Amino acid sequence: MADDALKIGLLGCGPISQFAHLPALLKAHRVRLVALCDGADDLLEAVGRRAGIKQLYTQYTTFLKAADIDAVLIAAADSFHAPLATEALRAGKHVLVEKPLGVNSPECRTLAELVRSTGLKLQVGNMKRHDPGIAFAHRFIQERLGQVLSVGGWYCDTLFRPAIQETLLPPLLKSARAVRPARDPKVDKRHYSLVTHGAHLFDTICYLGGQVKAVTAKLAEKFDQHSWHGLIEFQHGGIGHFELSVKINSDWSEGYTVHGEHGSVTVKTFHPFYYRPSEVRAFDARAEQWHTPLGAHSNPYKNQLEAFARSVLDNRSTCPDVDEGLADVRVLEAVEVSAGGGSRVALA
Ligand SMILES: NC(=O)c1ccc[n+]([C@@H]2O[C@H](COP(=O)([O-])OP(=O)(O)OC[C@H]3O[C@@H](n4cnc5c(N)ncnc54)[C@H](O)[C@@H]3O)[C@@H](O)[C@H]2O)c1
Repeated sequence: MADDALKIGLLGCGPISQFAHLPALLKAHRVRLVALCDGADDLLEAVGRRAGIKQLYTQYTTFLKAADIDAVLIAAADSFHAPLATEALRAGKHVLVEKPLGVNSPECRTLAELVRSTGLKLQVGNMKRHDPGIAFAHRFIQERLGQVLSVGGWYCDTLFRPAIQETLLPPLLKSARAVRPARDPKVDKRHYSLVTHGAHLFDTICYLGGQVKAVTAKLAEKFDQHSWHGLIEFQHGGIGHFELSVKINSDWSEGYTVHGEHGSVTVKTFHPFYYRPSEVRAFDARAEQWHTPLGAHSNPYKNQLEAFARSVLDNRSTCPDVDEGLADVRVLEAVEVSAGGGSRVALA
């Protein structure tokens, strides 16, 4: 790639693109936003004007063929992720796809095979891995903690979210012509809440704590809100627990703990649009030292783009890769089945 920048086209001009991806695409190093695609022509033009992008496409197939791009960032509804990623890979484009990788494990498995057969890169948009606090915790656990005994993770979305977004973000451009799944995914609020938020919680638990062997989950559903609690058995023999509450009548609350052979790590994570890295306290028992990384502001959406560009331009692994995206979907499926009947579900 001549100028050592990854040329990216963005599919989808909806809320997450306007709030997070576009500002990040315009700032990220070694990344150049070249083209936009959205089936809603009015939204496409308005977002294109705001972002100063002239190459605009309403047809995804034409966008993949005609736009001068190396990679696609897919920011559309969950059920479109696997089909759109498949089409992009078949057109020879690298893919950064929003979380979750897909809506069921069979389609994610097929996608993983396609990624391997093309040799192209696919990264899942779990941008929390690119929060410098979480990245520090991950490195510390890998390098200093030894074997993992116990893992905790909680993620409680807030009823204050509309006020937070109204305060921090630019006015949302909308269109009645936006391409939507035949059935509105938000109609099944229980499933939607589990998947859209659980895709973050369980990815971070796996990133910090290890691969999941089995889950046992329970769900409470009251006054139109949901709370899942559960037990996680890890492949390494350690144990963990989680809470996913959507939504709570309080401020955003998210955090993780990992206790290991040679120390412990605690992580407090903030609402993503604060761009405030997680606060981490890590204890290295062998050195008898606490470690606390610098918490300077940092944009995880920009960081994930720069990591994606490095993976393509310098031929490195993506984070998370397609297999980790598949593993997250399998955990979500297991939690949903277990919470439905209360039984332990093993991930074969
Ligand atoms: N990482 C995060 O923090 C985060 C936060 C919110 C949402 N998300 C994820 O981002 C994704 C998108 O969310 P959203 O709320 O912006 O979605 P949305 O459905 O509101 O917007 C998607 C846009 O893509 C366009 N589109 C869809 N399919 C198309 C096609 N085939 N051709 C052309 N245009 C097409 C639609 O017209 C629409 O404008 C979801 O998967 C969601 O889970 C991630």
